[in-house]
Amino acid sequence: MSTSAGPGRTWPLVGRAAELDDLDDLLSTAADGVGVTVLLEGEAGVGKSSLVEALRGSARLLAVELRTAHASALRAAPFALLSDALLVRPSGVGRGPERAVGRGQVEAELADLLDAIAADPASSVARHDRAAELFAALLRRHGDTHPWVLVLEDVHEADAPSLEVLLRLAHEGAVPRALVVLTMRPVPYRPELAALVAAWTRAGARYLELRPLTARATVELAESLAGGPVGPSLRGTLATAGGNPRLIADVVRTARSAGALVTADGVLDPAGAQWLEPLDEVVRERVAYLGPEVLALLGQASVLGTSFVIADLAAMAGDPVADCWRTLRHGLAAGVVRARGDRLVFGHDLVRGALYNGLEPDHRRALHARAAWALRRAGAPSRVVMGHLERAR
Ligand SMILES: Nc1ncnc2c1ncn2[C@@H]1O[C@H](COP(=O)(O)OP(=O)(O)OP(=O)(O)O)[C@@H](O)[C@H]1O
Ligand SMILES: [Mg+2]
Repeated sequence: MSTSAGPGRTWPLVGRAAELDDLDDLLSTAADGVGVTVLLEGEAGVGKSSLVEALRGSARLLAVELRTAHASALRAAPFALLSDALLVRPSGVGRGPERAVGRGQVEAELADLLDAIAADPASSVARHDRAAELFAALLRRHGDTHPWVLVLEDVHEADAPSLEVLLRLAHEGAVPRALVVLTMRPVPYRPELAALVAAWTRAGARYLELRPLTARATVELAESLAGGPVGPSLRGTLATAGGNPRLIADVVRTARSAGALVTADGVLDPAGAQWLEPLDEVVRERVAYLGPEVLALLGQASVLGTSFVIADLAAMAGDPVADCWRTLRHGLAAGVVRARGDRLVFGHDLVRGALYNGLEPDHRRALHARAAWALRRAGAPSRVVMGHLERAR
């Protein structure tokens, strides 16, 4: 799922002044002719695309060309990401077969090579090597006449040959006279991406981790989306969004589209609870990319509460602790759960609640019974154990 300019985007960005300043500084450095690479990482929906989109305005002001291409697992063709970035007209916004008009020799040779590779996917190694060499040359030389910005979005989904070219470039240092920004989610983990990140790190790339919004920015964003001050009940739900702008927007939009948002005492607040079920559904869709195995274990964990001891989850699931860690490491990398010693904490209680409410009732009762058993065995207070037993009925 790669939603960039989602509906309801609010300008200016909320709570990202420091990050924007950082990127603007790096853009000025590149505009002065120095190559800079930025690795922009953050959980799904935290605002990576919004931040790089904001860079567009600054690039325009400095009259620096900006090219963007989005990787997508649906476009796995060899060199798809770099073709989108380099073989489209500058006015093109990404994918599509439009090739550069009046292109040079290198582009023409590349276009032919790619056609040949597409016609015969098991094409010769020599063709792949030549295409990789030409893409690397194009990237290196694109800034000969003017500095530029290259934004490669969602590189965690990029085709392997494009990643190889980027790896090759990392060994030579920053791309000359370019600001190169690679955006990525921490999951799914791909060894070739890890190698790329390591190589760029060695080459001196800047690592920018986009953190969730603060509590204050959360309310600010919600109010700008809702169009007025928000009340205590909505603030309560917003506080469970873990500072994730996409989830914050989901909360406000779902309340609004369910017709639940009403003004009382000068603030907007949802009336009734009928909007909470659709909200759970939206939130479950947001984490569906984690896959059934991780979600099943997180569903079990949701029964234990916002934070839980991994040994208790393992006892509940009937699996060794090491297996639970292995399964949950994707959830950890995605920021859905965070590790605190031998405890795990859900990053967004909104997600925990949605997973819990999505459990089939019989299954949920059985899980509460298992939780009571595991917690009693681990010496938890009887009040806690009783709480689970009550919900097991
Ligand atoms: N700082 C912000 N202020 C206001 N809205 C924001 C902010 N950050 C993100 N948003 C909104 O939140 C939603 C998700 O943002 P965005 O698409 O930029 O996230 P992302 O990190 O690129 O997600 P993905 O991993 O899915 O690509 C968008 O609708 C965007 O407009
Ligand atoms: Mg994005």
